[in-house]
Amino acid sequence: MGLEGAELNLRGKFWESEELIKKWDNEVPWVRIDELNDDLVGKEIQIKGWLFNKRSSGKIRFLIVRDGSGFIQAVMREGYTSPEAFQRYSELSLESAIIVRGEVRKDQRAPGGYELSVKDLILVFKTENYPIGKKEHGIDFLLDHRHLWLRHRKPFAVMRIRHTVVKAIREFFDSRGFLLFDAPILTPSACEGTTTLFKIDYFGDEMFLSQSGQLYAEAGALAYGKVYVFGPTFRAERSKTRRHLMEFWMVEPEIAYATLEDIVELSQELVEYIVQSVLDKNLRELEILQRDVKPLEKVKRPFPVIKYKEALRILDKLGVEYVPGDDFGTPQETAISNYFDKPVIITHYPKNVKAFYMKPDPEEPEYVLCMDMLAPEGYGEIIGGSQREEDYEKLLQRMLEENIPIEPYQWYLDLRKYGSVPHSGFGLGLERTIAWITKSDHVRVTIPFPRMLYRYKP
Ligand code: 4AD
Ligand code: MG
Repeated sequence: MGLEGAELNLRGKFWESEELIKKWDNEVPWVRIDELNDDLVGKEIQIKGWLFNKRSSGKIRFLIVRDGSGFIQAVMREGYTSPEAFQRYSELSLESAIIVRGEVRKDQRAPGGYELSVKDLILVFKTENYPIGKKEHGIDFLLDHRHLWLRHRKPFAVMRIRHTVVKAIREFFDSRGFLLFDAPILTPSACEGTTTLFKIDYFGDEMFLSQSGQLYAEAGALAYGKVYVFGPTFRAERSKTRRHLMEFWMVEPEIAYATLEDIVELSQELVEYIVQSVLDKNLRELEILQRDVKPLEKVKRPFPVIKYKEALRILDKLGVEYVPGDDFGTPQETAISNYFDKPVIITHYPKNVKAFYMKPDPEEPEYVLCMDMLAPEGYGEIIGGSQREEDYEKLLQRMLEENIPIEPYQWYLDLRKYGSVPHSGFGLGLERTIAWITKSDHVRVTIPFPRMLYRYKP
């Protein structure tokens, strides 16, 4: 069987090959590239995908085929491959949709361990002038073509790792008795300060896109004990750094009867679990990204835990400038995170640089019971969390001091009126965590369609 004209009539850019596709489906199994295994060696299968690349050396022609689950080299040999398919080689343009059938071969040198000896192929869709070529493209060009760029090797690897990270997070909390608790995206009040809110016109009322699900997670913790919110969050941050997105995903556990020490421990378990999951499942993807795995293998508990004041001493030692009493910015975070070869947790920041809901340290009330986790290799903050103020009067006092309007938070204050207990939680930023694990130079490549200060298309 081949690509005889009778079977394949060009209709627009689609090759009319439905009959042939059906025939093949009856003859050989369709296998996904990441499902190839030793039992299939020597068997005839078909792979449905797209032409990612090709090259020819005389009597042998190589196709790199991608099917979404991986990339494989499909080899066409004169005499073995059907003559029609062999001749089609020159017509096969990049990103044309093709179905290749042939025998699975083991090949140690191949990235996935297998290659396909092509017997025949169907051209399903002939692509003309695919805009992303073999040459190096600038980042702006690639981001403009993000919808197509996603098909390429590095985005493929990063998205697969993102999948693993999300799955690991859910497994982690689900297996520890946490209830998944969905916080609203449209919110009437701020969580992390009013300067970074996206305003929404809600039938004439002012609403905001959620900056954090935390306040709702607190209601969830007092209702169900242990919950986690996992969803998109929004910050209108006029920051153009490699760590900032306007829309990013955050997972936020919140636990009743938990103290700062409890979440300092839990956050370490979580991060160790995430990194270990990626090392278990994504070595191939890490290799595509040329990510040195040694630093990741070191991510084992216990992580260093230091107080803000100690962090200042480290900055002094390193000669990094800071304003005493201020929050850390990128230079300070980068310096401290480079100082350790594991994630480091910094606790007890000054009260006035942190959010209104954090509980002051009873021993030193100018500092709060909070924690930030900084990723190693200069990646900076990936987690922010705290023990929450559980006392009604103290919380109200703090809100008044900070000129926070009380009315929209009445429900939140209610939580301190009815069965209030100490409780704590934190938020882990998904994209920053993935940027670190994949050693990406910017968070924009860790989410399918990034929203940045000056970019919101496609
Ligand atoms: O430190 P943040 O602002 O903490 C909170 O929102 C708390 N309410 C969380 C809680 O206690 N439930 O944000 C938490 C994390 C940061 O450590 C960072 O990883 C990520 O969210 N993050 C961002 N990621 C990408 N782009 C941005 N603009 C981000 N802002 C915060
Ligand atoms: Mg923070």
